[in-house]
Amino acid sequence: MAKVPVTARPHTFYIRPAPGWLYECYKEVAKVSATPFQKYKFEPKVVMLKSTVKVSRCDWRQGLEILLRLTTAHDIEWLILESGCKQWSEVDAILKRVPWEEVLANKNEPVHVTSDIFRGFTTGSAKLRENFCNIGGVTHVSEGAAIRFKVELRDEMLRILVSLGGEPLYKRGYKTKLIATAPLPEHQAASMIRWILSGLKPTQKIGTIFVPFAGSGTLGFESRLVFSDSGPGAFLRQFSCELFPVTPKPTIEFLRRKLKEKWQSGVTPKIVFNEINEEAVQILNENSQEILVPGKWEIIPGDMFELKPNFTEDGSVLVLLNPPYGNRLGKNTSIGNLYEKLGRHLRQLLDAYPGRIVGGCICPDESSWKRFLSGLNISSTQTHHFTHGGEEMRLVRWFSE
Ligand SMILES: C[S@@+](CC[C@H](N)C(=O)[O-])C[C@H]1O[C@@H](n2cnc3c(N)ncnc32)[C@H](O)[C@@H]1O
Repeated sequence: MAKVPVTARPHTFYIRPAPGWLYECYKEVAKVSATPFQKYKFEPKVVMLKSTVKVSRCDWRQGLEILLRLTTAHDIEWLILESGCKQWSEVDAILKRVPWEEVLANKNEPVHVTSDIFRGFTTGSAKLRENFCNIGGVTHVSEGAAIRFKVELRDEMLRILVSLGGEPLYKRGYKTKLIATAPLPEHQAASMIRWILSGLKPTQKIGTIFVPFAGSGTLGFESRLVFSDSGPGAFLRQFSCELFPVTPKPTIEFLRRKLKEKWQSGVTPKIVFNEINEEAVQILNENSQEILVPGKWEIIPGDMFELKPNFTEDGSVLVLLNPPYGNRLGKNTSIGNLYEKLGRHLRQLLDAYPGRIVGGCICPDESSWKRFLSGLNISSTQTHHFTHGGEEMRLVRWFSE
């Protein structure tokens, strides 16, 4: 029997969020799925699972759209085969049904395969990968493969998934120059911005985004992505699904064009960066010139605590803070003192612009969080916990008083 073409049948995708941001990711997936750029054959169903977001009954091309638009995801996996499997002896027969021709143009190119076996099966996951590769006639490599499979045997079900992104989706490809310090990953930054904005009254319009401690500018760039309703597909990076034989080139071209247009022409707030380190300022300047719209951004070099910013745009100011911590703190700086000083400094800004300053600040531990709140000294704050580099972080958001 001839197989139904990929574009004519519904699909399931699993979406992995940035660590600690499942709900923000779920909300974004639900919104992107409900507001497609074009008409699709099926209406997708979006549900939040324990650690992922599942999209089912989805048009294959809409899966591509979700991939190119999502800002809060780490990866999207396409379920290419799922079959009930009660015992190990059934595995090989199922593996013979993998639709290789839909994913691989050339079986000589090595692929990456992770395999997992949960409850109820005694055979090891290495054997599962070995059988997957042998039956498919493909070679697994641990580094450098463009196509990444996942094979898992769980709850009497064998599932085979393939990553649509390949490289993690936080690698946007919009920074031409990188700085040495590890910046906040882009999907974390986007989740953080979305969470802060979700607490605002709909009437509070943001005219300016103020990013002190800007580093390489991630929070500024991600806020433009969020406000322009664009997505990672606006930039030059490749997604591994672009290599799949079944991916229609015109769909990808259409989506990329649309997202680029949104990125460039969306009505977005002005971004004001501040950074003390001269080298970082130079890199930030080069990156911003490359991708931001002229006249819609500026960099104020120098010490954040000595700035007298003058917010000339109408509307409120969204302050996004990822202050230094760990190795980035000077030798003689106490983290608690710095965060309390920052809280007090913001309090002055709030008093100078009544009702107009909203925002959020990452606090890397309990003491910095307590001292920041004590310096800020306002009643309407909320805290969200997430993880970054394995460390537990807190994000405080405050609303204007
Ligand atoms: C945690 S990093 C920010 C990383 C940034 N979010 C990114 O993604 O690249 C903190 C930055 O604050 C800068 N910085 C430290 N003290 C400062 C101050 N007093 N005023 C302005 N910037 C400062 C550092 O040079 C560093 O680039």
